[in-house]
Amino acid sequence: GRVLSVASECAPLVKTGGLADVVGALPPALAGQGWEMRVLIPAYRGLLDRLEVRSEVMALGDLFGGPARLVAGRAGALEVLALDAPHLYDRDGGPYAGPDGRDWPDNPERFAALARAAARVAAEGLEDGWKPDILHAHDWQAGLAPAYLRYEGLGVPSVMTIHNIAFQGIAPAGKLAALGLPGWAFTPDQLEYFGNISLLKAGLVTADAITTVSPRYAEELMRPEFGMGLEGVLAARAADFTGILNGIDTGIWNPGTDALIPRRYTSRSLARKAENRAALIERFGLGEVPGPLAVVVSRLTGQKGIDLLPEVIGDFVAVGGGLALLGSGDQALEAAMHAMAEAHPGRVGVKIGYDEVLSHLMFAGGDAVLVPSRFEPCGLTQMYGLAYGTPPLVAATGGLADTVINANPAALATAAATGITFHPVDALALAQALRRLCRLHAEPQTWRRLQLNGMKQPLGWEASAAEYARLYARLAP
Ligand code: ADP
Ligand code: GLC
Repeated sequence: GRVLSVASECAPLVKTGGLADVVGALPPALAGQGWEMRVLIPAYRGLLDRLEVRSEVMALGDLFGGPARLVAGRAGALEVLALDAPHLYDRDGGPYAGPDGRDWPDNPERFAALARAAARVAAEGLEDGWKPDILHAHDWQAGLAPAYLRYEGLGVPSVMTIHNIAFQGIAPAGKLAALGLPGWAFTPDQLEYFGNISLLKAGLVTADAITTVSPRYAEELMRPEFGMGLEGVLAARAADFTGILNGIDTGIWNPGTDALIPRRYTSRSLARKAENRAALIERFGLGEVPGPLAVVVSRLTGQKGIDLLPEVIGDFVAVGGGLALLGSGDQALEAAMHAMAEAHPGRVGVKIGYDEVLSHLMFAGGDAVLVPSRFEPCGLTQMYGLAYGTPPLVAATGGLADTVINANPAALATAAATGITFHPVDALALAQALRRLCRLHAEPQTWRRLQLNGMKQPLGWEASAAEYARLYARLAP
């Protein structure tokens, strides 16, 4: 079968977070399951130049105030359809915001255009004869694609995947007609969200099936603490709603073959990891760290619980710990991280920015990966930690709870434990978890066991790709 995957990001072409990794990893994973997937993304500034063998495959005429067309091209093994609409996408800045960090005011139109193009491909097929059996929409940016299919009776089945419900694509009610949505759909049981339009909700009420990126987050989303106002919508669709755990790209994230780290190692040559640790310490200008060296690679936002670190760091450093943090995001959090590093010279190092290469050294050289998120749909960095023998210390929420087995006595005794989990997400519980980390790290045999248990976990896409394939097969028999 054929699947059109629709998203605002796709690694390695454009990435702000894990969404891009997942959208970029699914096509090769599903190819192994007999599904041919093409990825439709906006042609942001410079993106077309990064595609190989380009050709126009659909002229779209005027799309929200300017000419648009679809260009097919390749990026490595990925088959990409880029929506070329310069008036919407050919701008400086990121996918969602301008250089000043403020969201583009025409984001509803920019992503309605993406959805409109997707619906046309699904309904009409491309000039080269390619026509999808399924449309798979990711997050609010693609939310109107299932809606157009449904409201216009186009008869192509669709899947809506939630990567993060915190982002819902809110547009003022006055844009309903301009976005090509029927007036009757502006009700609470369709796409109205407290007086506005929600692009995500539009997708959730019109898609044939809904998925999210871990089973635990699927359960959480049907409860008010996590559903952010959409818990009722999701609970009403519980029969069509499942959690399918993300995988990681084990071709890229493998300490045995990783060309971006100073010293490669496997579970049989774990001792070599120490060379990466030394390189990481030098890179961050740290001194000797007698206890565990924790690493954080993260967007700096409230979701990630990073604001708790300054409260607990003194205690952690006092018992021997060290910390290397790489991240960017909220300005207040960036400043707090710098202040934390200055307060603990030699033990805490902070780099603000986005650096894919450095992130590999951090997972390889760290002793533990910290992910103290308040909510986490899936999370990828804890899985990188597992793969690199760098046990994760995580909040017991969402996908973190689904991927890390806490080192309690029973799990240690049965060789099941892979990391440390804590709950609730507050400074006290995090401080206690960090103390536990220090104690475990100080017992070399136990610690090694924890590392090896994690490295043995199947973290690739095989199992989850098979689940997506089963879902597609059910919708498009
Ligand atoms: P989210 O999508 O919520 O940001 P995930 O854990 O799913 O969280 O994915 C984040 C991805 O972005 C991971 O691949 C992580 O390594 C990467 N990442 C986040 N911040 C940085 C950074 N500052 N430098 C390099 N990579 C980063
Ligand atoms: C979102 C979530 C993250 C998840 C990623 C990929 O960005 O915040 O938890 O891993 O999407 O699904």
